[in-house]
Amino acid sequence: MGIVINYCENYEEMSWQAAEIVAGEIKSKENFVLGLPTGSTPLGMYENLIEMNKSGKTDFSKITTFNLDEYYPIKRDNSQSYYKFMFDNFFGKININPENINIPDGEATDAKIECGTYDQKINHAGGIDLMVIGIGPNGHIGFNEPGNFLLPNTHVAVLTEETKEANKRFFDSVNEVPDRALTMGMGSIIAKSKKILMLVSGKSKANAFRQFLEGKITSGNPATFLYLHNNIIVLSDIEI
Ligand code: F6R
Repeated sequence: MGIVINYCENYEEMSWQAAEIVAGEIKSKENFVLGLPTGSTPLGMYENLIEMNKSGKTDFSKITTFNLDEYYPIKRDNSQSYYKFMFDNFFGKININPENINIPDGEATDAKIECGTYDQKINHAGGIDLMVIGIGPNGHIGFNEPGNFLLPNTHVAVLTEETKEANKRFFDSVNEVPDRALTMGMGSIIAKSKKILMLVSGKSKANAFRQFLEGKITSGNPATFLYLHNNIIVLSDIEI
């Protein structure tokens, strides 16, 4: 218990270990609840899990999933929606029951109500058994960006210019990047997850990860709030 940090040789090794952890956890419990991120980091893990599903090693038919975040407003069929990302890269390739997939709704008419409903849905599912997350170059988790304060529950986040700039590569132009997002808060992540698996991949994360390893909790680096949880596994493909 506490925080276990495991350095991996490379991205492939990290992705394999992550998939093994997820597959092992899913097997350990009926009706498993899995929290998931988007981004480039988890792609290798998703590929391994898809293979494990194809070979019959891992069954997703009874799991329920909750995604960490989604742009707002955004149509599900927008090529940049996290909804589309998840179906293209994972859900569309495994035997999951679509009714058990939960992603904050970028099409909701009332964003605040959607956020409250999302936390209730997580509670109703009995919490998240394993939450997988990535980390941003500035220590962000989901759309919980560094700042003077953090909002604990699932909430509407206003994207910083920095984040919009970083994400514009996926859109036609920076003007196309939605200016808000729906994100689980650090409080929802910590309080509602029984176990958290954080994947740290790429040199751009070195500063944020180094600061994380110092072990001081600061809203200047949202990842450091994970020290308030007592069951964290970190897999990193960069050595600090
Ligand atoms: C993804 C998310 C983000 C990413 C982070 C790292 O749902 O919420 O916080 O985990 O930006 O992104 P990548 O993996 O692309 O480096």
